Amino acid sequence: MAATTPVDRQFRDALGAFATGVTIVTTRDQSQHDVGLTANSFNSVSLDPPMVLWSLSKSSLSLAAFAAAKHFAVHILASDQDHLSTLFARRGIEKFANLDLERGLGDVPLLSGCSARFECRTEFQYEGGDHVIFVGKVEKFDHFGRAPLLFHSGRYAVAIDKSRDTPNIDTENAELDSSFSQDFLIYLLGRAHNQLFLELRRDLERHGLSEDEWFVLSILGVSDNRTIADLDRLLAYTGTRVTYELVAGLAAGEFVNIRGAYDPRVVTTLTDKGRRVVIELVSAAKATEGHATRNLDSEEIRLLKRALRTTIRDTDPGPPPSLMGPIHGE
Ligand SMILES: Cc1cc2nc3c(=O)[nH]c(=O)nc-3n(C[C@H](O)[C@H](O)[C@H](O)COP(=O)(O)O)c2cc1C
Repeated sequence: MAATTPVDRQFRDALGAFATGVTIVTTRDQSQHDVGLTANSFNSVSLDPPMVLWSLSKSSLSLAAFAAAKHFAVHILASDQDHLSTLFARRGIEKFANLDLERGLGDVPLLSGCSARFECRTEFQYEGGDHVIFVGKVEKFDHFGRAPLLFHSGRYAVAIDKSRDTPNIDTENAELDSSFSQDFLIYLLGRAHNQLFLELRRDLERHGLSEDEWFVLSILGVSDNRTIADLDRLLAYTGTRVTYELVAGLAAGEFVNIRGAYDPRVVTTLTDKGRRVVIELVSAAKATEGHATRNLDSEEIRLLKRALRTTIRDTDPGPPPSLMGPIHGE
């Protein structure tokens, strides 16, 4: 059997199977310089008295400062603070420049935006192989309730609540409530799309717009002055072609101006009315999104969007056959 030493890759990998939170531990050294590093060796020790521990590598440049410090602060990082973790895991750089700092017990630097924060008095220091274990008595703490950043197998991760129910979607419509519909991605995506669009469709009807016309307007809302061929290429994923007739219909409704004759290379621009309608409809769509995702937490929304982006990338049909030259012969 291969020997397993503390520096062994396999030993590190096995330890990495233990998912942890991520902290930044800070203190102030005897020359009044702020010192800090990323540490995931943090743990609770005692409730009464309240005590915590973490361990610091003997090779750390921060060792002398923590060994001498009467106080330190532990920041449990929030899920959007991985950039701070990466910053504080670097050696020999100025880590506190440009950070919004408060001061805690012993003038220790306190970081903001974290999930929880413990201000500690150094109680004990123990030898622990190539690390020193610091035990601190918690004298003050804050709990900000932000979702925590996790670390597992050498990567950052986020927490997903496993105990949350997966709802059945069709309690009303028993005949649709099969394992097929509950689990079939195309059905779920299609149904979510249609239901999300119900409200927006009512708004479109009020303005006399079709879904295809709305797609054209929304593209122009992001980036105006597009040729019809350009719009056709950008909307290939919808399966419909952007023709001169479609854009001419929008021009008749005074949503766009067409600069030129019957040709796919002609440039289309939003009118003032078109821009107002786009802003109104985009705000309505944003409100619909907020309502539709009201029972998801921010991490679930982020993961949902990431999974959809990956699916979109992997199913992109690419550009349509180009509309070369005029649509109808000149
Ligand atoms: C997620 C993560 C967890 C870490 N945990 C610890 C730890 O518990 N103890 C430690 O000494 N170093 C830990 N490190 C490494 C230190 O952050 C890193 O060595 C840092 O450069 C030390 O800074 P210093 O040399 O300026 O003190 C960790 C790094 C990362 C990315």
